[in-house]
Amino acid sequence: MPVPHLLDTYQLSAHQIEAIVAEAHGYLRQDGSIADAVNTTENRRIVLAFFESSTRTRLSFEAAAQRLGVSTSTFVPAGSSLEKGESLQETLKTIQAMGFDAIVFRHATNGVHHELAATSGIPIINAGEGSRAHPTQALLDASTLIERFGNLSGLKVCLVGDIQHSRVARSNVDVFKKLDVEVSLCGPPQLMPELGEFDGVPHIASIDEAIEWADVMYLLRIQHERLERHDIPTADEYKRRYALTSDRLRSKRDIVIMHPGPVNSGVEIDTSLLNDVRSLIHRQVTHGVAVRMAVLKRSFIPRPLNLKGNDAASL
Ligand code: CP
Repeated sequence: MPVPHLLDTYQLSAHQIEAIVAEAHGYLRQDGSIADAVNTTENRRIVLAFFESSTRTRLSFEAAAQRLGVSTSTFVPAGSSLEKGESLQETLKTIQAMGFDAIVFRHATNGVHHELAATSGIPIINAGEGSRAHPTQALLDASTLIERFGNLSGLKVCLVGDIQHSRVARSNVDVFKKLDVEVSLCGPPQLMPELGEFDGVPHIASIDEAIEWADVMYLLRIQHERLERHDIPTADEYKRRYALTSDRLRSKRDIVIMHPGPVNSGVEIDTSLLNDVRSLIHRQVTHGVAVRMAVLKRSFIPRPLNLKGNDAASL
């Protein structure tokens, strides 16, 4: 059986995306809160290894694991044997040899997840990879939108901001297109993707036109940690030209606002809009836990029946 890695959304069909979302919705109660699903995962153990900062993804994987009865250990790169020259490959083999069932892995380098997966015997779950992929973010966004709208076919979503450096944009455009969403992009020309990337996805020049067109405004911050150029707009300039403000939304009472976080409040979005009735930003976070419960469950390799040791005593 191939190792059930989750490396990106490109590996998922529309049917598989919908199945993960349906399972995630099964973990949500009528009142919108998250339910526990204990005793379904046979004492599994996972490692959380984050080589880039995170609040939402790391904590929600941990929360998802707790709700499934899965125990978590945290690998902290600083102070690990990587500092003595050990390779990432060998670190992963070491984690595997300890009997962990999966590794949730975030890293700034594009391609490193695929590279490790080529030799890993345990599933690698991509928790964010450079500017290339953030599959669980796209899945939780789809889950949030499906809860709100049901079928997403024909829904108009405009992604606004620093598209070029955004792994969220890449994974979301892929998932949205598979779910038949109409996607467009808006942002400073120097932060738009290279010509040819996102073929067939139109660019909208001004935020006011984008608001007019869209059912959903999906905002992204400028990814300062990945910027190599110096001609980006200042925060004031960005805010003047591309920020979602209460004023700009005056005529669009039924629009939906999304943002993957972290938010640079007062730059790409007015602080007052974060808790606006039109905002799904905190609902996205709740879906993050439910979706990651579904993702963890699909990632575990079935265990062979073991007749040695304690397992035999329980037969
Ligand atoms: N959206 C997201 O990945 O947030 P964190 O960086 O806080 O995990």
